[in-house]
Amino acid sequence: QSTIAVDLTGVQLGTRITVKWAGKPVFIWRRTPETVAKARATLLDDLPDPIDDSEGDPNISEPLPALDGNRAADEAGEWLIVIGICTHLGCVPIGQDGSSVGEFGGWFCPCHGSHYDLSGRIRKGPAPRNLDFPPYSLGSDLLLKVG
Ligand code: FES
Repeated sequence: QSTIAVDLTGVQLGTRITVKWAGKPVFIWRRTPETVAKARATLLDDLPDPIDDSEGDPNISEPLPALDGNRAADEAGEWLIVIGICTHLGCVPIGQDGSSVGEFGGWFCPCHGSHYDLSGRIRKGPAPRNLDFPPYSLGSDLLLKVG
């Protein structure tokens, strides 16, 4: 599998970009502190998929509660990096342009109506799992490597 490197220094706070890795869209979102605070205020009890595990996502080595702090790429939570493929039947959710983000502010899959939240967690609709992660590393120089 190939590795890609993306320089994220030019991504403005609050904006989202999409890159392609291994034929899949990867959603990158530089979240504002307000967005992070909201994402972190969500209770595990409110999540249909409260544990991120390797069942559908081979890049998770150990099961972890789907808390935003575990899902974000950095400690402050500014960066969220997920695979942009609905975990239901594989459509690409919309919302990367900031519109049509669904009822929970993240993404909306129009194929059968799955709503993802500010951490890419499924909140409503038929999708069984939170959005998966690609294998990646993000350095303090904001050079992102995926793959
Ligand atoms: Fe996304 Fe069915 S493929 S809701």
